[in-house]
Amino acid sequence: MKEVLRIDQITKTFPGVRALDDVSFSINGGEIHALVGENGAGKSTLIKIISGAQKADSGSIWLDGKELRSITPASAKQSGIGVIYQEFSLVPSLTVLENLFLGVVDRHRLGPDTKARRKKALELFAQLGIEINPDVMVSSLSVAQQQIVEIARETSRNTKVMIMDEPTAALAFDEVNHLFKIIRTLKARGVTIIYISHRMDEIFELADSITILRDGHHVATKPMSELSRKDIITLMVGRELKESFPERNVVIGEPVLQLEDVSGNGDHNISFTLHKGEILGLAGLVGAGRTELAKVIVGAAKRTGGTILLGGKPVDFKTPGQAVDAGIALIPENRKTEGAFLDYTINWNIGIMALRRFSRHWIMDQSALSEQVLKLSHRLQIKTPSMEQLVRNLSGGNQQKVVVAKALAAETQIMIFDEPTRGIDVGSKQEIYLLMNQIVESGVSIIMISSEMEELIGMSDRMVVLHEGQQAGMLEKSEFTQQKILELASGIRGNNE
Ligand SMILES: Nc1ncnc2c1ncn2[C@@H]1O[C@H](COP(=O)(O)OP(=O)(O)OP(=O)(O)O)[C@@H](O)[C@H]1O
Ligand SMILES: [Mg+2]
Repeated sequence: MKEVLRIDQITKTFPGVRALDDVSFSINGGEIHALVGENGAGKSTLIKIISGAQKADSGSIWLDGKELRSITPASAKQSGIGVIYQEFSLVPSLTVLENLFLGVVDRHRLGPDTKARRKKALELFAQLGIEINPDVMVSSLSVAQQQIVEIARETSRNTKVMIMDEPTAALAFDEVNHLFKIIRTLKARGVTIIYISHRMDEIFELADSITILRDGHHVATKPMSELSRKDIITLMVGRELKESFPERNVVIGEPVLQLEDVSGNGDHNISFTLHKGEILGLAGLVGAGRTELAKVIVGAAKRTGGTILLGGKPVDFKTPGQAVDAGIALIPENRKTEGAFLDYTINWNIGIMALRRFSRHWIMDQSALSEQVLKLSHRLQIKTPSMEQLVRNLSGGNQQKVVVAKALAAETQIMIFDEPTRGIDVGSKQEIYLLMNQIVESGVSIIMISSEMEELIGMSDRMVVLHEGQQAGMLEKSEFTQQKILELASGIRGNNE
C-alpha cells in the first residue's frame, strides 16, 4: 500500500517536558491508523503539529511525498488534513451552518451566500448519512451531534487525512456505533484516518494499523493483525499490566442516602437507596438524566418533588458547597468548565479540597497538606514536571486525574463520580478502580455514572438504569448483563419485568 503521511524526526519541547522526541513513522493511504499511548505520551501534541496548531522544534511532515512546510491550520486544511480535536471547537452560540462556514469567505460577494451554503451543508450531511438541521444553534445539539458537525466541517472533497483525537470520549454506547459508521463511510471514500483512543475495544474493531507512543518516543508501528491487546498495552505502558477489575473486601452496611420519588432537572420519581460501602452504578444513554440527577442530589439543580434522606434525615441542599459540608461530593463530568480551575496549579487545585481537613482553628498544617497532595498525584500518576504546573498545560487525561484527585482529597462520606475515567489510559484506570475500592473499604459510598459498560458492570454492586428521565430498572450484581442493561437503557424493556 502507498504511504500517505510521513512523520519524520519530530521533536517538541515544552518547559520541563519533552513531549515528542525524534518521532518517525508513516501511515498508508486508505487505512484507519490508531495512535495510542498513556496520558501525556504526546499524541495530541503530534496531532497539533500535523494540523498546524503547534510548531515542532525540528523534523518534518510529508503528505503524498511532498513536505508540508511551515504548516498553519489553514494550510493544513488546504492540503487535505482535517482534525477533530480532543476538546470541541464549535461556537455554541452560532448555528450549525454558521459554524460549518466559519472563516470562509464567498468569492465575488459582499455577504455569505446562505442558500448555497445550506445546500452544501445538507449535501455534506447526506454523504455522511446524518440528519441535522443546519439552522439550529450548536448549543442545542447533543455532544454526539456536535461531533458530527465537526466531522462534516472537516470533510470536504479533498480531505485526504482525517485525524480524530478521542472522538468517543464523550459519547454513549449507542452513539459510538453511529460514529463508527461515519468513519467507515469516510474510509470507503478513500480517506485515511488517524484515530486516537484509550478504548482498546474500539481500536480492535476499527483499526488496520497502529502506532504506539510512550513518553514522547515512538515505540512501534504495525498492522493490527500482528499485535494482541496484551502486546499493545505492554508496549504502551512499558511493562505487563493485568487488565481486570480488582476484587474488594467490603461488608455493605446500613442505608446512607435514600431517594424517594425524587423529581427535578428533567428526572421524574427516582427512588433508590445507597448503602455504606456500596458502589451503585448509574447507567443510561446520553440524555437519560444521570448527570441531571446527580446535580439534583447535591443541590446544583432544583428538586421539584420527592425526598432525599441523608443518614435518615431529610436534606435540602441549596448549593453543592452545602452538600460537601454534609458529606456528599459530586465529581463533575466536564473537566473544562466544572471540574478544575485550569489557570491554577495542580497543587492549588487538589489543595483547596483538602484544606478543610488540614486546618484547625484557622491554622493550616502546610506540610501535611502538601504531603497529601503529592501522595494523591503519585497514586494517580499525574504526569507533570512539577506540582506548580498550571492544569491547562496538562494533557487531557492528566487534567481528568486532577479532577479525580480533588474529589479524593475532599474525603466525603458519599462521592458521586460522573464519568471518572473519561480519557484516562488503561494503567491509570486500574489505579482509579483500586482507589475506589479502597475508599469503599473504608466505609465511603459511591455512586458511579459511566458510559463504559464494562466498567459499570465490573465495578458496581448494584445498578440503577435510567431511560429518558425515568427509572427503567434496578439490577442486582447477579443480573448484570450488557444486553439487559441496554434493553432497560433504551426503553425496550420496562420496569420490574
Ligand atoms: N502547552 C503546554 N505547555 C506545557 N506542557 C505541555 C503543553 N501541552 C502539552 N504539554 C505536555 O506535553 C506532554 C504530552 O501531552 P499531550 O497532550 O500530547 O499528551 P496525550 O498523549 O495527548 O495525552 P492524553 O491521553 O492525556 O490526552 C504532556 O506531558 C503535557 O503535559
Ligand atoms: Mg491528548
